[in-house]
Amino acid sequence: MQEKCHLYKGAVFYFTDSPVNRKDSYVYIPNGALVITEGKILETGSYDAVKSKYMSIPETDYSGKILMPGLIDAHIHYSQTEIIGMYGKQLLDWLNDYTFPAEMNFNSPEHAFRIADTFIHELLRNGTTTCVAYPTVHPVSVEALFQTASSINMRIITGKVLMDKNAPDGLTDNVVEGEKESRQLIEKWHKNGRNLYAVTPRFAITSSMEQMQMAAHLHKAYPDTYIQTHLSENLNEITSTLNLHKGHSDYLNVYEKAGLLTDRTLLGHCIHLSESELKRISNAGAIIAHCPTSNLFLGSGLFDMQKANAAEAQTVLGSDVGAGTSFSMFKTMGESYKIMQTLGYPMSALETFYKSTLGTAKALKLEDKIGSFRTGSEADFIVVDPAVTPTQQLRKEYLMRANKWTIENQLFGLQITGDDRNISATYILGVKKSDTRSSHLALEK
Ligand code: GUN
Ligand code: ZN
Repeated sequence: MQEKCHLYKGAVFYFTDSPVNRKDSYVYIPNGALVITEGKILETGSYDAVKSKYMSIPETDYSGKILMPGLIDAHIHYSQTEIIGMYGKQLLDWLNDYTFPAEMNFNSPEHAFRIADTFIHELLRNGTTTCVAYPTVHPVSVEALFQTASSINMRIITGKVLMDKNAPDGLTDNVVEGEKESRQLIEKWHKNGRNLYAVTPRFAITSSMEQMQMAAHLHKAYPDTYIQTHLSENLNEITSTLNLHKGHSDYLNVYEKAGLLTDRTLLGHCIHLSESELKRISNAGAIIAHCPTSNLFLGSGLFDMQKANAAEAQTVLGSDVGAGTSFSMFKTMGESYKIMQTLGYPMSALETFYKSTLGTAKALKLEDKIGSFRTGSEADFIVVDPAVTPTQQLRKEYLMRANKWTIENQLFGLQITGDDRNISATYILGVKKSDTRSSHLALEK
């Protein structure tokens, strides 16, 4: 047994429970060790205790760095990697002017594989080891992402975008075609290796009620798939939706009527919800993917985490690249903090880290596999250097002098000042994926 083990020395940090309204929600071992065997977590503990038990196994020294579970991005569009940071306008114009033209190119396998490759590199460089991603309407775009992730055994959740109206020719399907293509992809990829499928009606503006109902039936036929869509991101989007789908009490009601509101449904954004909508999402056990950098970039509005917590809705964080402005979940957390500050809720760093690790794993019902260092979990982990820039080093020295270099202050510093430079290494199933700081990464296959 021991000959297959590897020990990593460093500060060990992971959640055991939600930190919202609770203490004792995490494990932090400053002089710690993590033991991996065959791609799984075997043990964590103090370095001295672990070392005395596993005297002769190979060891990697990450002293001064934090070993934590890989970050999870719950909402991201891989097909928008090349249109990140496009100037001006709000959601619907942004979709028409930049997004749809870029997504049209994904009928080309070459293009899809090229973007998928960069996309996966960017995730790894930023310490993201799992994501829930939107490709495009083209089946080959899904193939490219699943294949690229599979080539490095990375866990990914994605599924063909369904759009049968209000989009350019070349970017639409229809009910029959959308179902057939989705079924074929589910049969091929869902639970194949670490891949999982998300039935993906883009949003109510680009899908007919018939297509959304088909999507709900498809999910019922494969009940351990997910559903992902967008909800209440932008005020004009809400008005357009209710004009297109007459006779519904509110935006969420369109998805409810279609049968899309389940405990495996991820709803992107959810900024402008009524109390009733929030309550119904909470009761259904659906998941709100909060995407702060995107919401600020498109001027969509400010999501209220405190209200969502009070309604006991499940909330997780997403980058929403390419409306989101960074692949870094640290930056995503930082912008979330600033939004909540504006709304009078100085959210703790523990909450944002939880909602990018174990909290997301739990919402996805994957907590036995990812998101923590529980024995038997898949060894997707990152090595985080909390002080890489001169300013971060000064901040660290200041806090150390004051005896306040706590894990909470380290995490808060990362989310406010951190980015890809703080990710020293990213491991997938216990295998290091190259040096994440180099500008051009070669995936170690
Ligand atoms: N709503 C429907 N599609 C999209 C998209 O691609 N990005 C964002 N931010 N919102 C959407
Ligand atoms: Zn989105």
